[in-house]
Amino acid sequence: MSDNGHIIVGLEIGTSKVCAAVGELTETGELNVLGLGQAKSRGVRKGEILDAEKAGDDVRQALAEAEEMADVDIESVLLAVTGRHIECANYRGVHTIPSVDRAIGDEDVQLALRNAKSQSCPAGSEIIDSVRQDFIVDDHTVYDNPVGVVGGRLEARVHVIRGHANRLATSRQAVENAVPVRVEKPVFGGLASALAVLTTEQKQAGAVVVDLGAGTTEFAFFHQGLLRHSGVLAVGGDHVSNDLAYGLRILIPRAEELKLEHGTAVARPESAGVQVRGDSTSLHGGRGVSLEHLERIMSHRIEETLELVALRLREADALRMATAGVFLCGGAARTPGILEVARRIFQCPVHQGLVQGVSGPANVLENPEFVTAIGLLRYGAMRSRQRVQPNLLGKLRSLASLSSFRSFLF
Ligand SMILES: Nc1ncnc2c1ncn2[C@@H]1O[C@H](COP(=O)(O)OP(=O)(O)O)[C@@H](O)[C@H]1O
Ligand SMILES: [Mg+2]
Repeated sequence: MSDNGHIIVGLEIGTSKVCAAVGELTETGELNVLGLGQAKSRGVRKGEILDAEKAGDDVRQALAEAEEMADVDIESVLLAVTGRHIECANYRGVHTIPSVDRAIGDEDVQLALRNAKSQSCPAGSEIIDSVRQDFIVDDHTVYDNPVGVVGGRLEARVHVIRGHANRLATSRQAVENAVPVRVEKPVFGGLASALAVLTTEQKQAGAVVVDLGAGTTEFAFFHQGLLRHSGVLAVGGDHVSNDLAYGLRILIPRAEELKLEHGTAVARPESAGVQVRGDSTSLHGGRGVSLEHLERIMSHRIEETLELVALRLREADALRMATAGVFLCGGAARTPGILEVARRIFQCPVHQGLVQGVSGPANVLENPEFVTAIGLLRYGAMRSRQRVQPNLLGKLRSLASLSSFRSFLF
């Protein structure tokens, strides 16, 4: 690590594994992964912590491994959150400009944004992130930035990601009670994954990232450089294994093994009549199971999951606007044939989502399961750049070029 590097740590408590990534943001703005630690996750179901003690133990193990590899003391982490309690939606907030013929100022923008946010947070929930979209002044003219425009009614559009306050507190406390580390902030896992995978150009052109995990599937859609839509579905790779266990009448651990050994998203004609070992732990002794049946069960569940994602993406018109295509990451993105099936369902280009613009060990960067934790490093890097933004904002304003500036978060 260089002396002046700023350390950022990302932690994902996933349904199948806990993953901690330690990154260094250099003075020149480069991001390097210095260490990574992981542990099997035993306290999580469908993305939510059900056994905080077990989750805490797994966090301790993953962080210790990451600390050792990176040779740093971890003080704080950005924590990826997901689960059915996460809600992502677009809101509008209106602010009336008190006097006629007055140009809209920063304060007016802030008030319109605040109104949008206040509607988006019912009792018991907590806003995780909110991203400003565009603004509408009086006669429906849309502005990226309305400062300096003369108008009477200002409407702000905001994408808000919120979660159930108690569930978020459970995640935070599971970490803070287990290790002497502070949770800086929760971050929606789907947003973190998108930040790891998409380049600036892809975010500008329009792109979607779908993170196919064990218990959940997250998605995030960027267009014109901003997060436009996101969400979570409580389905993932575990459901495929459960279906296999039920359909083939074998135990879940064997179903998981068979999925990894023989799994495919597209049933193959040559598998007809082929038997694979059902294992001695199967309910029926060492009998074989039909590979054709296995492939049919698996491909149906994967298709169904991708159809559900497509439905949610179509609601936001994301698939039509994703000029750069859809990028798949998360462990289930390893399933052979999944890109082909996704192309057919999404009706647009689909690619493997790989970490971009970050350096580090190849085996870490190429692993689809680590994308979220590495994306948290990118999130942290963007946040630290935003902290120096007021100066930049001042300079830009004095150059009267504010319209080209769009903030990532507010
Ligand atoms: N080769 C593979 N084929 C199919 N599924 C896979 C493969 N490798 C991993 N998976 C699945 O990926 C999921 C784990 O992905 P991961 O992104 O680590 O999930 P999480 O973040 O929810 O812990 C598991 O359901 C696992 O079975
Ligand atoms: Mg995950």
